[in-house]
Amino acid sequence: MRTRPASAVATGIVLALAATLAHAGAPQGCTRIADIPPNYAISYGAALQGLFDDYATNGGSAGCVDCHFAPPPMPSGELDLSAGVSWGHLVGVPSAEDPGILYVVPGRPQESLLFRKVNCDTPGAGARMPLDNYGGGLLPEQQALIYDWIANGALPGTSNTVFRDGFEIRGFVP
Ligand code: HEC
Repeated sequence: MRTRPASAVATGIVLALAATLAHAGAPQGCTRIADIPPNYAISYGAALQGLFDDYATNGGSAGCVDCHFAPPPMPSGELDLSAGVSWGHLVGVPSAEDPGILYVVPGRPQESLLFRKVNCDTPGAGARMPLDNYGGGLLPEQQALIYDWIANGALPGTSNTVFRDGFEIRGFVP
């Protein structure tokens, strides 16, 4: 039996790696949040669920839950972000659209589809959220809050950890 030359094996590995990276799809068109002051103490219920319920800053009301609730047969994106169930639907859970990406990887916002979807025009799966800039969209500060919550470990209660060393750059740098 003929063995494959080492160079062919190496080329195969490189191609497989490139295919994996292409599949992950580097996010494009991301909003810069590097200069926004960090949120050190974050309560999931008040801050994150508060945002899912109503993020509008223009006097009206608009929430992710206007689409991501559970009407029959399915919430938008098959993701229900209602109070009481949202955390369990997000943390460590694979995307319905692309099971290769988790919604939230604790400690790793840039790998988390939830952050990419609210921060980037081309998040790697589907469209930017809120869809079609519904309700005016999210302010960069609100995107940064989601980043900070994930970076702090994506806890269901209150996190109060200093995680920045002052040199780390926050978010994607477009
Ligand atoms: C106007 C309706 C609408 C609003 C408002 C909305 N979404 Fe979505 N969302 C959708 C639809 C439709 C999809 C599926 C298509 C897609 O991913 O682009 C989706 C998909 C998603 C997904 C990916 C689901 C998957 O399995 O890949 C995430 C995460 C998400 N939305 C988060 C949010 C968050 C967070 C907000 C609020 C800041 C929000 N959405 C607001 C309609 C909406």
